Order: sequence, then C-alpha cells, then structure tokens
Amino acid sequence: MAFDQQLRIPGPTPVPHRVAAAGAQPMINHRGPVFKQLMITVLERLKNVFQTKNTILALTGSGTAAMEASVANLINPHDEVLVLAGGVFGQRWAKICRAFQSQVHVLEYPWGEGVDPQQVADFLRRHPQTAAVFATHNESSTGVLNDLAGIGAAAADFDALLIVDAVSSLGGADLKMDQWGIDVVCTASQKCLMAPPGLAFISFSQRAEQRMMEVSSPRFYLDLRIYMEWLAKHEPPFTPNIACFRAVAEALSMIEAEGLEQVFARHLLLRDMIRAGLRALNLPLLVDEKWASPTVTAVKPDFSDIGGFVADLRACGVELAGGQGPLSGKIFRIGHMGYASPLDMLVTLAAIESKLGCYGRAAAAAEQVWSEAQQAHGTLAEWRA
Ligand SMILES: Cc1ncc(COP(=O)(O)O)c(C=O)c1O
Repeated sequence: MAFDQQLRIPGPTPVPHRVAAAGAQPMINHRGPVFKQLMITVLERLKNVFQTKNTILALTGSGTAAMEASVANLINPHDEVLVLAGGVFGQRWAKICRAFQSQVHVLEYPWGEGVDPQQVADFLRRHPQTAAVFATHNESSTGVLNDLAGIGAAAADFDALLIVDAVSSLGGADLKMDQWGIDVVCTASQKCLMAPPGLAFISFSQRAEQRMMEVSSPRFYLDLRIYMEWLAKHEPPFTPNIACFRAVAEALSMIEAEGLEQVFARHLLLRDMIRAGLRALNLPLLVDEKWASPTVTAVKPDFSDIGGFVADLRACGVELAGGQGPLSGKIFRIGHMGYASPLDMLVTLAAIESKLGCYGRAAAAAEQVWSEAQQAHGTLAEWRA
C-alpha cells in the first residue's frame, strides 16, 4: 500500500489535507467578486506573518520570481550592490543582480555560519553609494538562520535598501519586517506557508516603492508598478494561481488559529528535537547552535554514500534532501518547516536511526527535549486539531 511519505525537505513541504482541499475547489473568474475578495483578504492577512504594515503583492511563480522582481524593480544597471552570500541562495542573489548588470560586491561568509552584521556596516561605511544590500534570512543550503535584526541595524544609517530572501523562513521564524528596518521581503507559498508551489509574495517599504518609480531596468511581467495599479482595483494584472490563493487562505487560518508566536515556538522545538536526536547518534551537525535554523538542519556524516543513505530512507517513506553546490555529496538536510509536528520529528529520527542500526537513541533524546518543553510551557500538543 502507498502511505503518505514524510516529506522532510526544505520545501516544498507537506500540505495539510484541508489546505489541499481548499485548493481543489472549482475554478472561478479571476475578475469576479469572489476572487477579488480572496486576493485582498489573503494579502491583508499575510501582513501579520510579514509583521508589516507595508503593501504585499502576489506573483504567480516560485520564490525566485519575487527575488528577480526585487532586482528588476529596485536596481538600475550599473548600480553598486552588496550581496551577503554563505550558500546557494546568497549566490542566487548575486547571479540575479549580475543578470541585471549591476556592479556586484559579494561579502562571502563561511557556508555553515551566519554573516557578521558589523562587516555589513563596515562595507557600507566604505561604499556609501551602495544601492542595496541583499540578504538571505534562512540559508536553506546550509541550515543557517542569519541575524536579520543585526543586519537591519547595521544598514539603518545608510541609503542602501535592505532586500531579504525569506523564502524558507517567513511563517516559521520570527521576521519583524518593519521593526528591523527591512525594505523588501520575498517569500513563496510552498515552504512555511504550507501551500503548494505556485505563488510568490513580496512586500516593500515606502522607500522601496519610491525607488521603484525611479528605476529604469527593463521589466514587464514582474513590473511591480503594474501590480500596484491593479491592486488599487482589487484585481491582479495577469491570470493568478487561483488554486494556490485558496490554499494559502486556508493555511493562514491554521497559522492564525495556532498563533504566530506559537508557530515560531513550535519550529524552535522541532529544531531542538532534531538536533538532540542527531547528536545522540553522533552525527555531526554542519551548523553551530548560534546559527541553527528553525526550519532546516544540515548533517555532515562521516560515511561517504550519502546519496545511498537518502535513497534508503526514501524507500522506507522518509524523504530527505542532499547537499547543494560544494556541499553536494557531503551533507544531507532535514526540513522541519510548515506542517510539521514533534511526532513527525520522532518518525524521521526513528527512520534515520533504524537505517544506521542504532535503534531508539535519537528518538529518545528528541522525546526528552519535547517533554522538557511541555513541562516548561504547558501542553504544546494541539497542533493536529
Ligand atoms: C532560501 C531560499 N531562497 C530561494 C529559494 C528559491 O525558491 P523557489 O525554488 O521557490 O524559486 C529557495 C528554495 O528552496 C530557498 O530555500
């Protein structure tokens, strides 16, 4: 019999049945009143998750569409920009900026560590003409959560816009867009937002909106000025992913019912359970406590056939991710974002330890973390309701 697999990759993530069912409703007119209402309410409700009062727009595409839209709308050819890169997705910012012919400075930080905000401030002091700083909140290729509040504080005294890829963090890790002084936040439907792939979301500050009006880079489908004009009429400029909008609306109801703070606490608990379990198996973690992501954990085992290990786990129903770029073949990654519970962590760890022939150790260590969290915070067990 085919059972549901444990989809434990850093996105796409498991879609709750009620979210999938919402997306499976009959098609509607994207210019009719039902969709207008749906679109406006989803974009309004997302403000709570973005922790912003700024406008949010939806693009039909994956997270990279929102990243490209940021560059196309906010950077002129030949503008100097600073990209913070410590993994595949930091590097993606640099690739997009180069495609739009900006002058790219890359502040590289080690894969497996976070960026030092002081270095950002030092760079901006030396290059005050910098048009934008591009950061990755959660670097999914390594499992590092960057200190975005610190980066925001470091960039606060400069004209540079702070543009953030929050594709694998928004809705799973605390991200205070307004309070931390972030100008642009990009994310996508298929990670912590628990919906299928198909929508990207982008929010921007008034400062960024003003810059958008002055930038001359060519753009059409991703021209955010067009999206804003249509938003005023409560309509999308182009045919949107209606099914995904419905799915996101349902997922937002789940997030709202759980409460954002509780969502973050759950992700931290999942991270701590996974890390405790892996430590109990003596599996080396790529990232130190200081930078450990609440949504994805990377493991650097000393056995060589990581591809075979991931394939074996797949065969027993647990889907993990391998490494990317220079970490390909060197690490495996466990996604624990979105629709993921403590019990899911126990199942994942049980599968890993059974493949390694050390039954019980990892799940027991993780259970201990869960039990301590329950004692400290009262019951955290309503997640399946
Ligand atoms: C941190 C981060 N940024 C960007 C992306 C790209 O998103 P998409 O694949 O939705 O274009 C991903 C996808 O895994 C990601 O994890």
